[in-house]
Amino acid sequence: MNKESIVVDTKEMVRKKLQNEGTGHDWYHIERVWKTASRIAKDEQANSYIVELAALLHDLIDDKLVSDKQQAVQEVEYWLEGVGVSARDSEKIMDIIQSISFKGGNGQKLTGLEAQIVQDADRLDAIGAIGIARCFAYAGSKGHLLFDPELSVRDDMSEDEYRNGPSSAIHHFYEKLLKLKHLMHTQTARQMAEERHAFMEDYLVQFFQEWEN
Ligand code: ADP
Ligand code: NI
Repeated sequence: MNKESIVVDTKEMVRKKLQNEGTGHDWYHIERVWKTASRIAKDEQANSYIVELAALLHDLIDDKLVSDKQQAVQEVEYWLEGVGVSARDSEKIMDIIQSISFKGGNGQKLTGLEAQIVQDADRLDAIGAIGIARCFAYAGSKGHLLFDPELSVRDDMSEDEYRNGPSSAIHHFYEKLLKLKHLMHTQTARQMAEERHAFMEDYLVQFFQEWEN
């Protein structure tokens, strides 16, 4: 298969798989990340084939979404081999999707430009109006409150505390979302993050105004 058909087939496979996902990692999240990542790849003159495939596949092995991560990793590897991605490219893609998660600040350091681009695109979708919506959808799926004034904001936390400790949707802004602007790697993403970050700050001001009245 040529590269274009590989991307199209992968897109269809992921779309079917994530159709009914209900925690903000649905197909439309993937589609947004894929489009944003492609745009950044162009600006940064990166390898768009690797960026596009990694963006499309990045959430298929997320431990929040799959019960058996090892098996999920293997399935993605088989998929890539099956559609004819070379062993070298497959290794690059697997490396990217296994390294980009935030994990409460415990994520690993990224090596290549392509990984940085997919991570930037994924993070852009976690901030701004859509990021706010995803945050509340995720918190709802976990049974968290919108805001819990009894809880303090956690600063340094282990991956397990980040995933399983008590939190609220508004706490997540302070524990992750407001940090992301400063963690962007590429110039394009840094620029795109500005407006989305400012919007979240305005949102919080309004939220607390209403909360206190
Ligand atoms: P990562 O894997 O990079 O840590 P996630 O997959 O956890 O990122 O994030 C997916 C989406 O769910 C993001 O929009 C994120 O902000 C949101 N999310 C993750 N954890 C929480 C939480 N505890 N409360 C609210 N939203 C969350
Ligand atoms: Ni994602």
